[in-house]
Amino acid sequence: MCLNLSKIQLSNNFKKSHLINGFDIIGDIAIIKINSTNRSQQSKIGQEILSQFSNINSVFLQKGQVSGKFRTKTLSYLAGKNRTSTIYRESGCQFLIDVSQVYFSPRLSHERLRIANLVNSGENILNMFAGIGSFSIIIAKNQPNCKIIDIEINPHAHFLANENYKLNKVSDIVESILGDSSKIIKTRYPKHFSRILMPLPENSIDFLEDALFALKSPGGWIHLYTHIISEKNHSVLSKATKKLNLLLDNRGIVTNSRIVKQIGPNSYQIVLDIEVDFS
Ligand SMILES: C[S@@+](CC[C@H](N)C(=O)[O-])C[C@H]1O[C@@H](n2cnc3c(N)ncnc32)[C@H](O)[C@@H]1O
Repeated sequence: MCLNLSKIQLSNNFKKSHLINGFDIIGDIAIIKINSTNRSQQSKIGQEILSQFSNINSVFLQKGQVSGKFRTKTLSYLAGKNRTSTIYRESGCQFLIDVSQVYFSPRLSHERLRIANLVNSGENILNMFAGIGSFSIIIAKNQPNCKIIDIEINPHAHFLANENYKLNKVSDIVESILGDSSKIIKTRYPKHFSRILMPLPENSIDFLEDALFALKSPGGWIHLYTHIISEKNHSVLSKATKKLNLLLDNRGIVTNSRIVKQIGPNSYQIVLDIEVDFS
């Protein structure tokens, strides 16, 4: 579940200066961003959340943005049970997640289902940046007649992905490989896949040539997630589409694009669906 409670005031006990800036619920864990740096005020807000939401057992404060190669959050304990592992449910699937060790965002639920609905019977799919396996598990549940390879560089996420395949009974459809997707693709997978997911918005474009190397063409698809900065909301998608079409250099074309979420005043995470066609 994902609640966007930005700018809410939890109770009259809290003055305007204690507004919450961001609020995600992953399983029974709430992760919040708070304007105040006062520790006792932060703890009070944590307690208030526990008392107002019966489904939440733990509250953590997120410090800064996701960072590092593994795209993890720095969390500090605020209230409730001091544990960072939880079970999160989405689209009829369940995921074991340690929110302090791996990247996970409930805000991508629409994207996970959208991609799953595009997959046809018999496809060979690669997720180059798989995390705890959420995209692939939802695809496998939706379209059991396919094969999926998940590559992930974070050993914690790789471990959880394997646990999650078992939990959702898709271990015969999805396989997780630990390592750098660029290196693994080059040694094992030339012209192998019909569809490739690239959910690393910070620098997925750096891996575009690897994806093209691993894709069967013509008729292959790439779903590339990227960040784009633009002053005008309406020009974001056309700006990104032009940039990608230039990089593709007639080896494919962006056929669809959408804003996944706004991540700053002028910056957005977007997804580009690319139909690849070269020989
Ligand atoms: C933004 S997260 C997305 C995770 C997952 N797809 C999801 O949506 O929950 C990107 C993931 O890519 C992994 N990663 C980063 N660089 C990688 C690389 N070169 N090869 C494989 N995985 C990588 C990170 O550890 C992280 O788990």
